Amino acid sequence: MVKIWGLVAIVLIVLVQNVSSYDRPGTRKNLVIHPSSDDPLSPDQVHISLVGPDKMRISWITKGSAMPTVVYGTTSGKYEGSATGTTSSYHFLLIYCSGRINDVVIGPLKPNTVYYYKCGGPSSTQEFSFKTPPSQFPIKFAVAGDLGTTEWTKSTLEHISKWEHDVFILPGDLSYANFLQPVWDTFGRLVQPLASQRPWMVTNGNHEVERVPVLHRQSFTAYNHRWHMPYEESGSTSNLYYSFNVFGVHVLMLGSYADFAPGSDQYQWLEKDLKSVDRKTTPWLVAVIHAPWYNTNEAHQGEKESVDMKESMETLLYKARVDLVFAGHVHAYERFNRVYQDKFDKCGPVYINIGDGGNLEGLATVYKKPTPEISLFREANFGHGHLVMANATHAHWEWQRNDDDVSVEKDSVWLTSLSADSSCQI
Ligand SMILES: *[C@@H]1O[C@H](CO)[C@@H](O)[C@H](O)[C@H]1NC(C)=O
Ligand SMILES: [Fe+2]
Repeated sequence: MVKIWGLVAIVLIVLVQNVSSYDRPGTRKNLVIHPSSDDPLSPDQVHISLVGPDKMRISWITKGSAMPTVVYGTTSGKYEGSATGTTSSYHFLLIYCSGRINDVVIGPLKPNTVYYYKCGGPSSTQEFSFKTPPSQFPIKFAVAGDLGTTEWTKSTLEHISKWEHDVFILPGDLSYANFLQPVWDTFGRLVQPLASQRPWMVTNGNHEVERVPVLHRQSFTAYNHRWHMPYEESGSTSNLYYSFNVFGVHVLMLGSYADFAPGSDQYQWLEKDLKSVDRKTTPWLVAVIHAPWYNTNEAHQGEKESVDMKESMETLLYKARVDLVFAGHVHAYERFNRVYQDKFDKCGPVYINIGDGGNLEGLATVYKKPTPEISLFREANFGHGHLVMANATHAHWEWQRNDDDVSVEKDSVWLTSLSADSSCQI
């Protein structure tokens, strides 16, 4: 089995896009995490995500098949709620078959409340808990892209776990399985301590595509099975793009690796979604992509997911007065001024690249010189971000750098919502 995987790995690494030639020092080794229990019904890789205003999706994997049931309640050990969902599994290249992927939506839930839950019914031995987001400001998001499964990833996750946040946002590139499906399982186990306690809202990157010519023609198989996001609830027909609200914040999760051309399903969905945004109830409007539209690093310049998607959608976001656009892909941190069509524009979004989660490819260290005026802060180091919507008009953004094993604030800025700027009225 190990030999087969070795061969598969060699063949497939050659096929992976974006093989990088630039200098990326300071990598740390990849982790391999085994299931914590031999019990075929033991919940493995538990993670949760928001569904609509007051529900939560609970996802977990079991070796054996069991009822996809979650019991939950606001007191530990007492479960007044119960819900049953669906189970799926998938094959990859004949030699890999996933466990049973259980997917259950629970609710309605009260805001800002700790819920205790068990996956698989009341007899399950392990109790988990999560907190729902509040129904008033402040709202706190942790943000990190391009995570992977390395010792650096672990360090980033430990730092995030020490910061009291409501929702985690991941701008694409999750496991870096690169077709080796057991890595998705390691990723699920690595993130479980965080992702079982706070909703993880993710979008896809190039490492989620996992399409193999002839052998596995379907794209996003592992991603779509394992990371079911609330697309149905946001009127989207694809798990690759959707939107969600957290109280006064509307977040657009766009798909850099889905069709984004004018007239495409994603484009039409985005137009419709933006029309439905009411800045009186959601004064904050945030977009998340994977391949950055603005980037002064030498890495990943000129890719169509950056250039063509920007060309297609930048004006839509600008006219809607999107406040902030997060991207990943480039393994470094960069913050821009408000920008539209490559120039400063006081009614344009602030662009932030936060692809510094810690994956095995290392950092993108070479920057264009001189620094373009629109780029306000850039640094090739691992870390993550804190975004606090303090109220309807003011938000605080902070970049936390992994200084070896300590999280240190290196960049921070107050932002004001464009919805409050009368000279930028929509
Ligand atoms: C919003 O928060 C900012 C920053 O803390 C503060 O200066 C401002 O007064 C607040 N606005 C309102 C309406 O409370
Ligand atoms: Fe990427």
